[in-house]
Formats: sequence, C-alpha cells, structure tokens
Amino acid sequence: MTLDGSSSHDIEKAAEILLRGGLVAFPTETVYGLGANGLNPQAVEAIFAAKGRPADNPVILHVADFAQACALWSASPAQLERAARCADAFWPGPLTMVLPAAPNIPSVVRAGLPSVAVRAPAHPVAQALLRILQLPLAAPSANRSGRPSPTLAAHVAKTLEGAVEAVLDGGPTEVGIESTVLDLTTLVPRILRPGRVSAAELREVLGEVQEYRPDELGADAASPGLRHRHYAPAILDIATCTEAELAALWHSDAALLLRRGVFERSCARLGPRDGQQELLPDDPHGFARDLYAALYRLEQQHVHILRVVDVPLESAWDAVRDRLRRATSALPERAATKA
Ligand code: TXA
Ligand code: MG
Repeated sequence: MTLDGSSSHDIEKAAEILLRGGLVAFPTETVYGLGANGLNPQAVEAIFAAKGRPADNPVILHVADFAQACALWSASPAQLERAARCADAFWPGPLTMVLPAAPNIPSVVRAGLPSVAVRAPAHPVAQALLRILQLPLAAPSANRSGRPSPTLAAHVAKTLEGAVEAVLDGGPTEVGIESTVLDLTTLVPRILRPGRVSAAELREVLGEVQEYRPDELGADAASPGLRHRHYAPAILDIATCTEAELAALWHSDAALLLRRGVFERSCARLGPRDGQQELLPDDPHGFARDLYAALYRLEQQHVHILRVVDVPLESAWDAVRDRLRRATSALPERAATKA
C-alpha cells in the first residue's frame, strides 16, 4: 500500500500500523527508512527479517528532537554536552550520534552493543510521523540488505515488495546518501560513516574529531555495518575506471556513470555511442543526491557491465567515495588528514 506523505490522514494511518507492530517505509532527508516501533523487540526483529539483515548490525533510532533522544541514552554529562552541541548545529538533519544506551533499549536494536545510534531526521513527513507517535522509530534504510538505499518511494518496492505493509511517499530525498554516523562514546569523537555532515563541520563544533578510517572496514570495524558489503546494484560486473580510460571504453558494451563535466571534457569529442550513460552533477552533494537513483535506473535497463568514473580525491567527496567503494571494487583512498 502506498500512502501519501502530503495527507495528514495517511500519516496517521502509517502511525496506526507502526503502533500495532507493523513495518512502514517512510521518507527522511537522506534516504527512505524501514520503520518499526523501536521499543518493541518483535517489531524490530521484523525489520531484520524483511531486510535479510545480519543480526550483528544495529539499527538507528529516529526521534523528533534532542529531548526525545536524551531519554534513549545513558550518557555522562560530558558526552551529553557534546551531543547537545551537535544537535544544536545539525539537528534535525543527516547526523546520527552513538552514545551509551539507556536500559530500556531492546538488545535487538543495538545488536547487543552497549551503545545506541540516534538521529532526528529533517524531512517534514518523518517529523510529522514522529510527533504523532511520540516513540522512537527504529529504521535502517528501506532496502534488502546489501542493495542500494532507496531515494524514491518506488525504489522500496524494488527490493522489499511484500515485506512492508505500507510506503509513505514523500517524494525524492534531498541528500541521497545515508547520514554521517558519529561515535561520541570515545574520548575523541570519531566518524564511523561519512555523510553530508563533514568532518570539517563537526570539528567546528567539537574540536578534535577522528575522521572516517576506511581501513577499518572488515571484521573488527567499530561500526558493525562496515563489516558487510553494501549499496551494490544488481549489475554483474561493476568497477571503477579513470577518466583516461574512457576513450578505450567508449565503443564497448559497458554502461557508464560519470560526472557531467568529465563527459563534456573527455567524451563529447568521441561521438555517439550505443551504451547507456548516466551523467551526474559535478558537485559532491548533487552527485550524492542522484547516485542511487542512477544505479536503480541502470538496473531497470538490465545493464550487466558498469564502469563508474572515479571522483576527485578530495575530502568533500569522502561520503560519495565510500559508497562507490562499497558498490564496486576498491577505489584508492585519500590519505587521512590529521584529526
Ligand atoms: O540516513 C540514514 O542514516 C538512514 C535513514 C533511514 O535514517 N538510515 C540508515 O540506517 O542508513 P542503516 O541501518 O542502513 O545504517 C545504520 C548504520 C550502520 O552502519 C550501523 O552499523 C551503524 O549505523 N550503527 C547503528 N547503531 C550503532 C551502534 N550502536 N554503534 C555503532 N554503529 C552503529
Ligand atoms: Mg542501509
């Protein structure tokens, strides 16, 4: 069932489903979330089953505001003070904060960890839903585990058809990639997943912040989600290439995903070609906003081979680079700058 995010009647219907333990996909400003009552362990277990999500990967609790978040944490005054500063600067918005969990947070939400991740989404439909519910909504991205996150209501059905009672349609999401995850349990706060809120912005608020360390991918990753392959479209052969390799690829069967400026600089002169192409904006925010929708379009066109032209090795591209690295084979990493 599709519900209309611009109808208060439909938002109430979504709230009813959630209150009786059902699953509803809803829009946030980053990507669509697969929501369930975050204080009901059975409802949260249903999220894991619907997504095929490994049980060791905890989910984010979504709240309307900082006051609601505080009730979910059992943090020290110093930790809370940092969280308050971040909330002032970035909430509601695409920042998730990890702090020690209050005793009433179900273990399944935390995947057994002592901490819990919380975020106040900025999307007006998510805000309206949360204000009616007055409950935290557990919500990972609304895709089957390992597939790209949905940035349109229609993307949800592509991987979760039949597994979710309703999708609340709030239009295309604005940020397009998942939130920045910040660990505030450590002495020096550290970024567990890069997103729209950058390390530089966090440093302005917190001082020292440990930037995202992609080499922590793997079994010992601090954020359990980093242990698993992610964001991969159902395209069989997907890899990155350099701008210099484009000429050789031009008359191959490969579909191409690249920045518009790169296309104009390196491809326009190569003449027409038969293969599919997705041209994305030249700036990192625009590229992030359109990336997953482009991957879903290429899937729809039954593309089997995709080459993604590498993005600049600059910190502004960290979040996009991380998602590309997970969807393809490894990209070279930018050397971390000093915390
Ligand atoms: O933008 C977003 O964050 C979206 C929307 C729906 O809010 N949600 C999202 O959820 O991306 P998900 O489940 O796909 O990713 C949550 C990430 C995972 O990498 C998970 O491991 C990490 O947050 N995480 C959750 N709880 C954690 C915890 N207690 N400690 C460390 N990492 C945690
Ligand atoms: Mg996800």
